[in-house]
Amino acid sequence: MIFKYLLLFVFYKYSVWAIDDFGFDVLNLRQEIEAVKVEILGTNNASFDVLIIVRSQVGEYHQKRLEQFEGNLRKQIHDEYTLIFAIVCLHEIETVVQGSWTLIPLIQHEFRFVQSAKWVIITEDSTELNLSKLSSFLSTKDPVLPQYFGHCIIDKKPVIIHHFWPYTMDKITLKYPLFASGVIFSQTVVRYLSELDMDDHIPSNIPYTTIDIQHEIAKLISTTQLVNLTCEESFCVEKDRHCMTWVNVQMNKGCENKDYTYEGLSIAVKTYAENYSTRLQLIIKTWLSDTRDITKFFTHSLENTSQFDGEINFIDVGFNNTGGGHCQKMLFIMKYFLQNEKGHWLAIIDDDTFINMERLTRILSCINPESEAIILGERYGFLQIEDGGYPYITGGGGILINRKAIRKFIDEDVYCPVGAPDDMWLGMHSKVHGIIMLDFPNFHQSVESTYHKDYIKSFMPVTYHRIGTVKEYEDTLKG
Ligand SMILES: *[C@@H]1O[C@H](CO)[C@@H](O)[C@H](O)[C@H]1NC(C)=O
Ligand SMILES: *[C@@H]1O[C@H](CO)[C@@H](O)[C@H](O)[C@H]1NC(C)=O
Ligand SMILES: *[C@@H]1O[C@H](CO)[C@@H](O)[C@H](O)[C@H]1NC(C)=O
Ligand SMILES: *[C@@H]1O[C@H](CO)[C@@H](O)[C@H](O)[C@H]1NC(C)=O
Ligand SMILES: *[C@@H]1O[C@H](CO)[C@@H](O)[C@H](O)[C@H]1NC(C)=O
Ligand SMILES: *[C@@H]1O[C@H](CO)[C@@H](O)[C@H](O)[C@H]1NC(C)=O
Repeated sequence: MIFKYLLLFVFYKYSVWAIDDFGFDVLNLRQEIEAVKVEILGTNNASFDVLIIVRSQVGEYHQKRLEQFEGNLRKQIHDEYTLIFAIVCLHEIETVVQGSWTLIPLIQHEFRFVQSAKWVIITEDSTELNLSKLSSFLSTKDPVLPQYFGHCIIDKKPVIIHHFWPYTMDKITLKYPLFASGVIFSQTVVRYLSELDMDDHIPSNIPYTTIDIQHEIAKLISTTQLVNLTCEESFCVEKDRHCMTWVNVQMNKGCENKDYTYEGLSIAVKTYAENYSTRLQLIIKTWLSDTRDITKFFTHSLENTSQFDGEINFIDVGFNNTGGGHCQKMLFIMKYFLQNEKGHWLAIIDDDTFINMERLTRILSCINPESEAIILGERYGFLQIEDGGYPYITGGGGILINRKAIRKFIDEDVYCPVGAPDDMWLGMHSKVHGIIMLDFPNFHQSVESTYHKDYIKSFMPVTYHRIGTVKEYEDTLKG
């Protein structure tokens, strides 16, 4: 009963907001639009209905992806649309509000241009949209209703990337949107999110890590009982005639740059004696045959390594295993790279990270490693959802770092505490030293069965972590 009243109150509150339109004055709105470079398609006045927020990234390569995305939309602008569209790029907003890629800090910042939009669409730079279809679709919907639309996916079991929530299979009902297909929030959902006190919704006892924001945001909207995601067939993965949105799957497969060879890459595997008989045997039987010449295994003593003569190239780091963190070891690996290797890229991986070399090559061939200091892989966020902390590339999925970035770390002589988590330490210092961090959802901190098949289909997998058998490698990462 109480709940019903609460809901009524919520409806009342948000409808009133929508009507008085926050009293935005056009001048302030226009200033803001200029400051964060909101592009209004097809008109030069400051009013628009639909705001497309593209999860763009910094760096030359992602700039090209963004140009392709924006070009596709500009080409489609016609006078007969009933709605006016605007685009804003997340990497621009990120310079004003940190952690904007997790959306919550961006929405809670209460930008006028976000709050005044009737609809907010979140997309990746690899999402394709049919504006004519979108315009017709949204013209039939009411932005005052709390509702959001997307390509629904649902977990088959509780998974680590969703903190195992809701802990038992029979309780899994949460439908969450595949961001790569785009998701559309009504004005009321956006305003609701902008008002939520995040302290009530994220655990205060453990520092919050953003792993999969598409799930985290749906969970927030559903568990606070506002509304569930509406599944729309026209939000597709693969392009088809009925699709209003789809994924440019080809873009996420990297590039066909014939000049690129993987002699430009060195692979450093972190290992230690106790893992030799199990994990190293599996690496030998899976990806190592493609990469033997460029791969070195960093361990704490050369004892018991002769069994791998001719197969594995070991390097003794010269200090004992600290049992966790591996921060000191990573610093050793980076120094070793600068002194002994010639290539542009270093991959730092665990002894249970699995790679498809051909696909990794395709990704790396998109990027000019000589122009910027870069670290790339699967991005997580430490306290980013609260407008603080830092993003980092999660270690298990593999960290790619170029010579320019390594040079910065070493030249700055950054301190690396024994036992500190290496990946988070890198993330924190990347931010401080202006190293470009690129998120590639092709890298994975877990095994394939953790992710939804449509997510896997959208971003060609390059790595998985914790594969247990040769067969699992062949089924999920080979071919
Ligand atoms: C904005 O532009 C549209 C079409 O380009 C026009 O119909 C409308 O009157 C303009 N609004 C203002 C406030 O100038
Ligand atoms: C969008 O869909 C319409 C049909 O609804 C079609 O005529 C048009 O070519 C499509 N545009 C794009 C860019 O796919
Ligand atoms: C969302 O879906 C769940 C499970 O189907 C249901 O229990 C819940 O009441 C729904 N919430 C709303 C706000 O409709
Ligand atoms: C060795 O394996 C254990 C689990 O069996 C793992 O926790 C540890 O991180 C591995 N060591 C290294 C150096 O990767
Ligand atoms: C090497 O192998 C022997 C016999 O299995 C074992 O007792 C010893 O602890 C190993 N050394 C290291 C450094 O793990
Ligand atoms: C490293 O470990 C060995 C035994 O495993 C021990 O004898 C040695 O003192 C340790 N070294 C340091 C610096 O802790």
